[in-house]
Amino acid sequence: MLTLLVTGGAGFIGSNFARTVVAETSHAVTVLDSLSYAGNTGSLDGLDPTRFRFVRGSITDARLVDELVAAHDIVVHFAAESHNDNSLNDPSPFIQTNLVGTYELLQAVRRHDKRYHHISTDEVYGDLELDDPARFTETTPYNPSSPYSATKAGSDLLVRAWVRSFGVQATISNCSNNYGPRQHVEKFIPRQITNVIDGIRPKLYGAGANVRDWIHVDDHNSAVLRIIEAGQIGETYLIGADGEKDNKSVIELILTLMGQPTDAYDHVNDRAGHDLRYAIDSSKLRTELGWTPRYRDFEAGLAATIEWYRSNEAWWRPMKAATEANYAKAGQ
Ligand code: NAD
Ligand code: DAU
Repeated sequence: MLTLLVTGGAGFIGSNFARTVVAETSHAVTVLDSLSYAGNTGSLDGLDPTRFRFVRGSITDARLVDELVAAHDIVVHFAAESHNDNSLNDPSPFIQTNLVGTYELLQAVRRHDKRYHHISTDEVYGDLELDDPARFTETTPYNPSSPYSATKAGSDLLVRAWVRSFGVQATISNCSNNYGPRQHVEKFIPRQITNVIDGIRPKLYGAGANVRDWIHVDDHNSAVLRIIEAGQIGETYLIGADGEKDNKSVIELILTLMGQPTDAYDHVNDRAGHDLRYAIDSSKLRTELGWTPRYRDFEAGLAATIEWYRSNEAWWRPMKAATEANYAKAGQ
């Protein structure tokens, strides 16, 4: 049995990770989360208290981080400011959490010689042309576009430097777009599902030709567990499930699955600097660590996600009105 310190574990991916670890392994989990607008302790309801603990605090709090890192075997670092649109409005919390927070964690794992896994994004590589046959690999040069992706790229580079300069025992994973239960309604898929539930038309940025490479959150998390178990220190692994889809097709599929006409959506203002296409080549993870995704049918995964939002309105309702009010200010 290992003790895992999971930062950002009240957010979308981290909470699903904590649930998977408690349900499927014998490890114990402590979640460290500041409960920003994106954190929700309701996502952690029902976890076995003999193997789960919640600590409210920031990863930028050096003293708290030091104390918690010292008391655990492994740090799994999910905590971040995660939304591109927010980073265009106010980059400041992205600098604090994504860069300064990662620095504090790295200093603590260095002092206490602990294993560290760093959760990152495919957005660090910038974007691909729509008709480019290439996909991102572990050797694609970094070329981030937004303040969010620039801070994630910077945090990855801090990890690489701490491995090389100080011998920190770290691995990094860069994953594509996640979908599934417990994702904040600011994000593309839950925003459209909850809009349709509320009788609001889905909102497509620009023409909707932009492509994202969708992966179910449980597949992301099974890959993270595999890397913690068998990944080589100092290595980066790309996580993806061959799920490329353009945004217009995803909105049309949501409308179909929810019994609406496929053209019942609005085109709204495009995102500034909007990345065109992300696509992951996850051969290294599959070949070297034997990982494969379980959710191969996007339509079935999306239908289950729609059902989750229909059945869990109490979870998302408190955040919906403020989220839509923010989008309305930007004409989105
Ligand atoms: P999220 O916004 O849903 O959750 C982030 C969590 O971090 C929240 O619970 C928030 O309260 C917490 N947090 C924010 N600032 C903090 C701080 N200073 N101290 C402690 N906790 C803090 O994000 P998510 O979508 O679950 O993403 C988790 C991680 O995965 C991020 O590092 C993100 O970059 C990465 N990632 C996300 C995706 C995706 O599709 N969502 C894909 C690849 C990688
Ligand atoms: O690729 C991994 C990244 O995926 C993660 O690092 C980020 O944390 C995560 O937020 C996500 O970033 P995106 O910017 O791709 O996700 P978002 O859900 O914001 O948007 C997905 C696509 O949908 C993007 O092309 C913008 C578009 N969009 C988004 C919203 C909210 C719309 O067309 N309409 C919308 O209402």
